[in-house]
Amino acid sequence: MQKHNANRPAVMDLLEHHGGLAPGVSAKVSEETGVPEADIYGVVSFYTLLAKPGVARVCQGISCAMAGSDALADALQAKGEPYEKVSCLGYCDQAPVQIDKDMELTKHGPRGSITPDDPALPINLGGQDDASYSALKAFEGMDPDAFLDQLQGSGLQGRGGAGFPAWIKWKAVRNEPIGTRYVVVNADEGEPGTFKDRETMLRRPHRLIEGLAIACKYVGATTAYIYLRGEFPAPRRALELALAKARPHLGGLDIRLTMGHGAYICGEETALLEAIEGKRGMPRLKPPYPTQVGLFGEPTLINNVETLACVPEIVLRGGDWFKNLGKTEAGSKLYCISGHVEKAGVYELPLGATLNELVQAAGGYVGTPKAFSPGGASSGFLPMEHADTPLDFKGLTKVGSMLGSAGVVVLNDTVDMAAAVRWQQIFFEDESCGQCAPCRIGCRMQRQAIDAFIESGDVASLEHTEDLHWEMEEGSICGLGMVASLPLLTAQKHFPSEFEGS
Ligand SMILES: Cc1cc2nc3c(=O)[nH]c(=O)nc-3n(C[C@H](O)[C@H](O)[C@H](O)COP(=O)(O)O)c2cc1C
Ligand code: SF4
Repeated sequence: MQKHNANRPAVMDLLEHHGGLAPGVSAKVSEETGVPEADIYGVVSFYTLLAKPGVARVCQGISCAMAGSDALADALQAKGEPYEKVSCLGYCDQAPVQIDKDMELTKHGPRGSITPDDPALPINLGGQDDASYSALKAFEGMDPDAFLDQLQGSGLQGRGGAGFPAWIKWKAVRNEPIGTRYVVVNADEGEPGTFKDRETMLRRPHRLIEGLAIACKYVGATTAYIYLRGEFPAPRRALELALAKARPHLGGLDIRLTMGHGAYICGEETALLEAIEGKRGMPRLKPPYPTQVGLFGEPTLINNVETLACVPEIVLRGGDWFKNLGKTEAGSKLYCISGHVEKAGVYELPLGATLNELVQAAGGYVGTPKAFSPGGASSGFLPMEHADTPLDFKGLTKVGSMLGSAGVVVLNDTVDMAAAVRWQQIFFEDESCGQCAPCRIGCRMQRQAIDAFIESGDVASLEHTEDLHWEMEEGSICGLGMVASLPLLTAQKHFPSEFEGS
């Protein structure tokens, strides 16, 4: 049997080109690629942008819901225009948001803010993007071991959510036996509340490309992939332009831009690899880890956009410099903030800044704050007693939450916690890939439990939520199922009076 069908990665593009789930498309793509039609059908039905192409999409993520996105859906309904309600579109700073069939924004609030230009910051979204590739040149003059010492000394932890030390993965891929290896950029950013990678690619695409080129040279990869969220056409244009300009500096390095098709789970690194390979984006069992068996079975370094964008300045200014920028942990961090604050946006602050400090950068609270979600839906809710708790990787886990991708959402006292829980549980139910029964069924049951409670006010509706959480945590392959109950459980824990029933 053929190990890899060389045409398989083309499946997604061909499906998009021929119109997704339209009649006859699966057969045509099967003919063109040699992949069985049933398999192609399985792929096309997995990805919402392929399964339901050509319609407007209205965001029902928590920030958009709080900003009144229901009204956008009602208006489309009244006009009889086809539309789809989706769990998150990645523009929480501009809520409420609607996009058209080409993924372009058609309805949105004011543009989000960013930290003003400050050359002391490693990413510095407000600065002029630098296309000199001086860090890449400096790296080429460095001894690889000396570079690794700098990367280790920088304390850089992955910015995609797990906070894993970057240097360990880089070293692991470099140390694999000689052969093909890949570097993959995770630019699928889909966690509700998170939009920092979008701004980085829009404003500082060369920072990312330069960090990626350094990673490729270090691990010995000649081909790299950027897996970009399908709902991000503007970052796509920015990257395409920047890649064209960067070419003379890249020494033949092949960087391929692969678009996502509307599945949040493809942000999970192994699901992302499956997606690039032209399959349903379902997470793989680990081990083996992608550093050993990754894309097309080869050792693969996968890093988040922000992680790679930190690397050029680490090369130029050293590991200690980067490390000392942090407050409780190393480096600066791009924090996203949306919801009930004056100036939603992306703010680069010392890692370990508190909610109060972040909100100060964002112009203050709107109304009386009641709760916040520090790292997207996956981090649950915290009460305002934690407004001075450092927003970092270690500290937040101690209080039963997590920094994740640092997508902070603030809720004021006009928001009913049960309604807020419902928005988040809908997200997880929509986005579970469905391969693990505890996650697939558990996500649905948690959403049904909160629905039943909202409808009846009967606390009995919620009596099995902890047991369900246990099943999901123990029986899930990936992080989605493990954390999907947190919005419900943390809201019950921190806001008990709102779950007493009537
Ligand atoms: C359900 C789920 C969704 C994820 N989504 C993203 C994402 O959108 N972007 C991202 O960089 N990492 C995401 N991750 C984390 C990745 O699996 C992986 O840890 C990360 O890309 C590694 O890069 P880093 O070490 O630079 O953080 C997700 C993880 C899970 C479990
Ligand atoms: S935990 Fe959920 S999202 Fe993750 S692999 Fe299992 S079913 Fe899919």
